[in-house]
Amino acid sequence: MELSCSSALSWFLVVLLFSTVDAHSWIEQMKVIAANGTFVGSPGYARGNVLRTAPGFSDPTMTYLIPPDDRANQSLILPTDRICKSTQRTYNQTEGSPRLQASAGDAIALRYQENGHVTLPWNQPGKPKNRGTIYVYGTTEPRENDTLLEIHKVWNTAGTGGDGRGVLLSKQNFDDGRCYQINNGNISEYRQSAFPHVADTLMGADLWCQQDLALPSDAPSGKLYTLYWVWDWPTAPGVDPSLPKGKQELYTTCMDVDVVEGGSSVSHSRVQEGYVEDQSLDQAAIPSEFAEVMASGPKIKTEGSSAPSSSTLDATSTPTPPITPTPTVPAQVLVLTTLITIHTTIEPSAQPSGGWLVEST
Ligand SMILES: *[C@@H]1O[C@H](CO)[C@@H](O)[C@H](O)[C@H]1NC(C)=O
Ligand SMILES: *[C@@H]1O[C@H](CO)[C@@H](O)[C@H](O)[C@H]1NC(C)=O
Ligand SMILES: *[C@@H]1O[C@H](CO)[C@@H](O)[C@H](O)[C@H]1NC(C)=O
Ligand SMILES: *[C@@H]1O[C@H](CO)[C@@H](O)[C@H](O)[C@H]1NC(C)=O
Ligand SMILES: *[C@@H]1O[C@H](CO)[C@@H](O)[C@H](O)[C@H]1NC(C)=O
Repeated sequence: MELSCSSALSWFLVVLLFSTVDAHSWIEQMKVIAANGTFVGSPGYARGNVLRTAPGFSDPTMTYLIPPDDRANQSLILPTDRICKSTQRTYNQTEGSPRLQASAGDAIALRYQENGHVTLPWNQPGKPKNRGTIYVYGTTEPRENDTLLEIHKVWNTAGTGGDGRGVLLSKQNFDDGRCYQINNGNISEYRQSAFPHVADTLMGADLWCQQDLALPSDAPSGKLYTLYWVWDWPTAPGVDPSLPKGKQELYTTCMDVDVVEGGSSVSHSRVQEGYVEDQSLDQAAIPSEFAEVMASGPKIKTEGSSAPSSSTLDATSTPTPPITPTPTVPAQVLVLTTLITIHTTIEPSAQPSGGWLVEST
């Protein structure tokens, strides 16, 4: 009985959601992750959130593209381009979409739908093999006028980048190695069998992607901590005939977390407990990402040069994504990634520089 209900639900949702395949992604939900890897507590939502289940919802309500579609030069990012969508520039929780409650040092999951960017890669020639790189920046001092160029690839893990107001908390592949939407492509079909899960009203039969990271251990209790999620998704030059010079394409979501005392903090027990195997894919962290969050420990803003918690592959343009979960990158590759980040951050930030193209070539 329960089985036939959920399969009926999944078919209904397949039909409902299939038309969103060409749309783009944003952070749909945040969850706190307990020390055993299980999501705990109530979900939290971005600023200005509108749930995809809301009447009349369409993706542009939640997506924010830089540079905007109507800019003649699609490789040009202006110093005035804000990092947040107009509805996400100030603290702005909508009814039914509260902030995430989490403690300093907690591991949290940011969850997003791949929207075909992972499972139908041939639809967008010239895109990076890792389906773009996703970054999370954190600050206790957000500004309404924060711009992309003053923060992205400028704020660093040590908190010494740019104006020093924030820190790079996480950097990873957009493709988390298992997420999918339901379609007839071979990648989706492979993942549907490799990573089965029960459909629900929010995700439908699709499986959302995750970016798992730890809040800084010095995030101040009783205050808000702001996260800027940036998906950097450039098109390389010379691949798509309609884009001979390639283009920049970035999407962001801006979010706040209520930093609360104690609670479900994993930082206290992270040493003793480990990820419990074989958990529901809908209700638990991704084992490899969670292991990296645990291994790198809580992020302290004043800490030295720890590598971003990620297994970012250097992105090259081929339409074939990895079919297995992202392998852990050897230490020397992470060091190289860090050096590239440092290299780009010491360049003047007012104009896009050669550094912008490092990961797309
Ligand atoms: C993990 O821990 C949480 C909170 O302590 C608990 O609710 C959950 O059932 C545990 N999950 C597993 C798989 O043991
Ligand atoms: C807050 O978010 C809602 C929904 O996105 C939006 O309609 C509203 O204009 C936003 N308010 C501000 C001040 O940005
Ligand atoms: C578009 O902007 C990029 C980045 O600033 C620049 O290198 C390029 O020359 C511009 N193209 C045109 C046609 O102005
Ligand atoms: C943003 O606002 C702050 C004050 O809130 C101001 O000092 C700063 O110059 C502004 N930056 C830009 C780029 O407008
Ligand atoms: C999907 O098909 C492409 C092209 O034939 C192939 O390169 C790729 O390995 C396949 N992926 C999977 C998961 O089967």
